[in-house]
Amino acid sequence: MNYTYEHYKKSADYILSRTSIRPEIGIILGTGLGPFAQQIENPVEIPYSEIPNFLTSSAPGHAGKFILGTIEGRSVACMSGRFHFYEGYDMEQLSIPVRVLKLLGISRLVLTNAAGAVNTGYRPGDVMIISDHIKLYGGSPMRGPNVEQFGKRFFDVSDMYTAALRDIARKCAESSPIRFHEGIYMFFPGPQFETPAEIRAARVLGADAIGMSTVTEALTAAHCGLSVLAFALITNMAAGVKKGPVGGGEVEETASKVASAFSSYMKSVISRI
Ligand code: HPA
Repeated sequence: MNYTYEHYKKSADYILSRTSIRPEIGIILGTGLGPFAQQIENPVEIPYSEIPNFLTSSAPGHAGKFILGTIEGRSVACMSGRFHFYEGYDMEQLSIPVRVLKLLGISRLVLTNAAGAVNTGYRPGDVMIISDHIKLYGGSPMRGPNVEQFGKRFFDVSDMYTAALRDIARKCAESSPIRFHEGIYMFFPGPQFETPAEIRAARVLGADAIGMSTVTEALTAAHCGLSVLAFALITNMAAGVKKGPVGGGEVEETASKVASAFSSYMKSVISRI
């Protein structure tokens, strides 16, 4: 399926018709970070299912709605519930959320996810500010005919995770009880967790954390000129880093333990970017 500019615009126009908020910052919340959305003042909620041409969210722990409102006086459009490749969407469909956010008028995009740690110096409950990513798995959300209104056919991704926003994120981290790192996120398509051999390979390649989201959104944002700030909440050590299987509730469990401190941190970041 090749999408035209009008396809995305129809979704955005519908959202804008439902609220007078004109958001400057877009936020996409990862697993367990739903509670952050409760900090949005004067919220207008729009379920994805009501938006023409939009996708519907099937992943556990992902609510499936836009929430527009304000945080510390900043106008935001927050997506509670995101879309993953493993749900069956193709790479091109995964361009929809960020392009719609762009058409709502945002200039900055904040992404959060749950991730496994490859770096043995990390612990569950830590947060990694993403400085760059590795996506060797095929495909791009920008594959297919280029939609010129969003950006050029070939585009630069050498500063995707905007340095100036990371500076602010680091400063805000100083007053948070959370342990922060800055590192490289590697995309794996899922839905299976990785094998220990894949994790060893990821480490050799330079990855600090791995997960199944975020990169398609960051790439779409880079194409249409948005600044990006992305956080990986470390919910578990990756396969083979510690003994025993990955999963079994630890992802959701860690995410919910950190949700409150991470939400406060996010609030301070949003007020400064
Ligand atoms: N691997 C991939 N995705 C994840 C993980 C993991 O270990 N933890 C949370 N999301």
